Amino acid sequence: MIKFPEYITNSRVKTWIQEMADLCKPDTVYFCDGTQAEYDHICQTLVESGTFIRLNEDKRPNSFLCRSDPADVARVEDCTFISSIKESDAGPTNNWIAPDEIKKTLTGLYDGCMCGRTMYVLPFSMGPLGSEIAHIGIELTDSGYVAVNMRIMTRMGKAVWDVLGTDGEFVPCLHSVGAPLEPGQEDVPWPCNADNKYIVHFPEESMIWSYGSGYGGNALLGKKCFALRIASTMAHREGWLAEHMLILGLESPEGEKTYLGAAFPSACGKTNLAMLIPPKKFSGWKVTTIGDDIAWLKPGKDGKLYAINPENGFFGVAPGTSYKTNPNAMDGLKENCIFTNVALTEDGDVWWEDMTDEEPERLIDWQGNEWTPGCGLTAAHPNARFTAPASQCPSIDPDWEDPAGVPIKAFIFGGRRNTTVPLVYQAFNWTFGVYLAATMGSETTAAAAGAVGKIRRDPFAMLPFCGYHIGDYFNHWLDFASKITEQPAIFGVNWFRRDADGNFLWPGFGENMRVLHWIAGRVNGCASAVESPLGWMPGPDDIVLQNLDGFKAADYIALQMIDTELWKQELMLHDELFEKIGDKLPSEVKNIRALLEAGLKRSPGKWQMVK
Ligand code: GTP
Ligand code: SPV
Ligand code: MN
Repeated sequence: MIKFPEYITNSRVKTWIQEMADLCKPDTVYFCDGTQAEYDHICQTLVESGTFIRLNEDKRPNSFLCRSDPADVARVEDCTFISSIKESDAGPTNNWIAPDEIKKTLTGLYDGCMCGRTMYVLPFSMGPLGSEIAHIGIELTDSGYVAVNMRIMTRMGKAVWDVLGTDGEFVPCLHSVGAPLEPGQEDVPWPCNADNKYIVHFPEESMIWSYGSGYGGNALLGKKCFALRIASTMAHREGWLAEHMLILGLESPEGEKTYLGAAFPSACGKTNLAMLIPPKKFSGWKVTTIGDDIAWLKPGKDGKLYAINPENGFFGVAPGTSYKTNPNAMDGLKENCIFTNVALTEDGDVWWEDMTDEEPERLIDWQGNEWTPGCGLTAAHPNARFTAPASQCPSIDPDWEDPAGVPIKAFIFGGRRNTTVPLVYQAFNWTFGVYLAATMGSETTAAAAGAVGKIRRDPFAMLPFCGYHIGDYFNHWLDFASKITEQPAIFGVNWFRRDADGNFLWPGFGENMRVLHWIAGRVNGCASAVESPLGWMPGPDDIVLQNLDGFKAADYIALQMIDTELWKQELMLHDELFEKIGDKLPSEVKNIRALLEAGLKRSPGKWQMVK
């Protein structure tokens, strides 16, 4: 029998932990208290076992490098399941498996899976402790790496037991790397299971079972599994939203603050946008960060929509992050961070592609091998990540932990599209906006295992994260309009449009401020627009385009051009998604499609602002 600390008074949680320990058979059960001393101790244990490398204390104090198994580097969408009682509740975009069947399979795999290891009990809150928007989870894991990452990414620690009390609600999250140790068997730096990986969600029970992977969203169960897949089903039942969105605040020189939520698929620029530093032309303007990946949104009593960031840290893509592209992220990485699958420099610091203009002369790459420039391999894995406390980010918003959340005035949706989709446009109304978000397409990225660069529909950037039928999800968004009296305006953006030679047409990064500025102007009633077949667009004089090196008026026209032929094909790609959804496709969606098609017919060839 486990000896429970006396401060754990919730009998449901005790019964569950005892049952899971009986099944997984760890050598010891350890209750995490979330203190710095405990964190330091677990990190030191990971250094001694070879999982962590302590970085140079002068250059990167209290920070660590970790190299994963090369076969465990990203989310595994093929092994991710929604195990609802009815198959139809998982819908056409999720893998479904019957709860009885998967419980049988996984109970077999979990049996003795923690032999030779410690089971860490991690009590955590998604959202500020005690906030009405927040929810509690308890993760059981046999990975020390997961334990220390969860302390950065969530509010993890003893205080959670007080909030839970004797009969509070919690999401049970069971995680094992699936690599038991025989007596005397030596451990490997990154244990995982090569044959079986399962990331399973039980929406009716609000429960998560994960097996076989130690990486990111597969293992840090507060993040995608809880805060998106399970939370989206709770939000659907209870009348709120759980979204794959950053949250930022835009402050004008006069001190007027506009909060926005922006959804982009994985590795498509959320962290960059959330921490944007406005270019010189916008002196007096400021962007503040509330979150970079997930938003929970609830209607307030005043009819506005309020958002919190349920997370406590950033699990951001490292490659491409630099003082040029994201100075705030770089400054937030100076200490107390964990780096996974980046390269190690000769002086014990980290490096990744495009971190600096010049490549270091020699490195140890993410797989532990000698690396020199031009050797033909990347030094960091494309999905290498940093885990950093949100509080260290210089642009963090003073209200980022306000339990009431921040009022959202606009939503932005954007994919990674080489062609077809303009830089920015505003949906005519909420329903057009839902259509825009529902039909979003994007190239696949290294954030998930599998092919990279393939265009797929990624509705609301939630394709891998919606825990229920996507048709019901569209309906939930359409219904949601009536739950708030001040509906956010909805915008589409595309930072990734390219010219015939393959060059980006838009400079992006900090210059995206120009687009944010127009969006804030629109929602605050002080920016004009022209009407296009897709929605409202900033005319060349409605958006600030001065001081953009080498960017010509003609480039802007090209960026906003709508190629009617390409859009006809685009609508047919929308149809492929609609056919998959079948009966649950809202009639509004079909109606908007018809309106768009009719509008496009009026501009044969192409639509553009100036002839
Ligand atoms: P997840 O954490 O996976 O959900 O992703 P994220 O959306 O936070 O991804 P992140 O911000 O780390 O995206 C990084 C990728 O987007 C890199 O490849 C960047 O080069 C690219 N990126 C970000 N902003 C821009 C931009 O404005 N223009 C262009 N061209 N690329 C951008
Ligand atoms: C994503 O893939 O969207 C991420 C990284 O934010 S992970 O936590 O691994 O899912
Ligand atoms: Mn994400």
